[in-house]
Amino acid sequence: MPELWYLNGSYVSKEEAKVSVLDRGFLFGDGLYEVVRVYDNEPFCLKEHLDRFFFGVKGIGLPLPYTREEFEGIIRKVIADSNLGWASVYWEVTRGTYDPRTHYITPSMTKPNVFIQTKAVGPQPEERRQNGVGVYLYPDVRWLKCCYKTVNLLPNCMASTYAHDRGGFEAVMYRDQDHVTEGASSSFFIVKNGEVWTHPEGDLILSGITRGEVKKLCEKNGIPFKEKIFGVRDALEADEAFTSGTVVEVNPVVRIDDHTVGSGKPGPVTKKIVDLYLKHTGQR
Ligand code: PDD
Repeated sequence: MPELWYLNGSYVSKEEAKVSVLDRGFLFGDGLYEVVRVYDNEPFCLKEHLDRFFFGVKGIGLPLPYTREEFEGIIRKVIADSNLGWASVYWEVTRGTYDPRTHYITPSMTKPNVFIQTKAVGPQPEERRQNGVGVYLYPDVRWLKCCYKTVNLLPNCMASTYAHDRGGFEAVMYRDQDHVTEGASSSFFIVKNGEVWTHPEGDLILSGITRGEVKKLCEKNGIPFKEKIFGVRDALEADEAFTSGTVVEVNPVVRIDDHTVGSGKPGPVTKKIVDLYLKHTGQR
């Protein structure tokens, strides 16, 4: 049951998993990535992840030399060969390695670097779901195409570091006081009067796959779900809040900076969504 490292068609050791300094991902952040969760050897929501990836492929004009079916086949084979049971799969495709370094992209850039890595991932800590987590607010200084899952993650890393340094679980980003967007590496939701609010899909957030599943679960179970822009004050005054992401799943937020959210404990709507999500992924 090995964790596998795959680079451009072969399995390699961690030490061998190297690309050139002229790789455009290294030089320009010119590449896309995805993280998929695997439960019992079955990739969860692979179709949705591939939809998002191929949306990005089209959006940035990445010359992927595979059809969607071929690419899906490669991902599935690496997962099957890993046979880890519960795992995550990270894949990254950069535009490739070209000499000399030029800002402009040309039609001759046709050889992307394809990297896939599988990693064992166990169940997420129950303590986090029971007690909730704290988050820190941080300005969203990203570009205007956050819908593409590019490897340009410096603003996200800075936000995440700010939260981590203060003992927070996640950073929640805002463009201005009236406009909260999402987590540094998760989607963000608040609950007001029984309604779940989250940022609408579009250029300014990543369309989280877990967010999409949470939306479907709310709609199926009669929980009002609204996609609307809300502000920092709305978040601070929310009854409940939570984040969602592929690896971390759904986590109640009980503190934003030094403000307590609601009662300071995970609220009933969030608890219901956590439960629905765990059932949805076969964990309850
Ligand atoms: N992060 N928003 C951002 C900015 C993200 O980076 C992520 C995921 C999400 C949640 O998306 P999803 O539900 O599809 O995982 C939202 C991944 C896991 C990462 O960067 O590792």
